[in-house]
Amino acid sequence: MIIRQAREEDAPDIAAVFNAYIGKSHMVTVGRSPKECVDLMQNKRAQVLVGHDFRGWMMGYASVKPYSERGGYAGAAEVSIFMDPQHTGKGGGQDLYDVLLPTALRLGYHHLTAKIWTANDGSIRFHERNGFKLVGIQHGIGMSGGRRIDMTIMERV
Ligand SMILES: CC(C)(COP(=O)(O)OP(=O)(O)OC[C@H]1O[C@@H](n2cnc3c(N)ncnc32)[C@H](O)[C@@H]1OP(=O)(O)O)[C@@H](O)C(=O)NCCC(=O)NCCS
Repeated sequence: MIIRQAREEDAPDIAAVFNAYIGKSHMVTVGRSPKECVDLMQNKRAQVLVGHDFRGWMMGYASVKPYSERGGYAGAAEVSIFMDPQHTGKGGGQDLYDVLLPTALRLGYHHLTAKIWTANDGSIRFHERNGFKLVGIQHGIGMSGGRRIDMTIMERV
């Protein structure tokens, strides 16, 4: 997989990867627009990485963004990662985090948070493998298909 910093023209592909998970009960309830992706890229304290195959097909993306814009949280960030459904389980997510996690450190972030729907065992396992530890569970914080769902908060310090 070829990994590089995202450019504005990647925004529709990034949104498409994210939106592929709409309706999967434990993942995405509301889609993301290309404009939201561009806004994230334009945040000087954020970084979006994309991974492509040799034909230029987007396989996935990962991002780090400030946890809060308030000064007291300057060293804290939130991470996110989504692989195209056709490209999960092939090592691409790990390849992206192998670049993203050192990038986050270079940006000055010493504390990373991952928010994961509790039913998403695969992502929880993936984050554990990448040094994230359980902080706790926010019970019933989300809503999907008319049901309240739990969010697992993990941190890497
Ligand atoms: C979670 C996700 C990013 C992982 O990326 P991936 O490319 O599928 O994972 P990799 O193939 O790089 O796997 C790396 C390691 O993570 C763990 N892992 C990944 N997916 C897993 C799963 N479904 N179940 C258990 N462990 C998993 C394994 O330990 C794996 O290492 P191993 O193969 O040596 O055992 C990807 O599956 C994905 O995008 N899933 C759907 C969207 C999503 O859940 N995003 C995160 C929202 S919080």
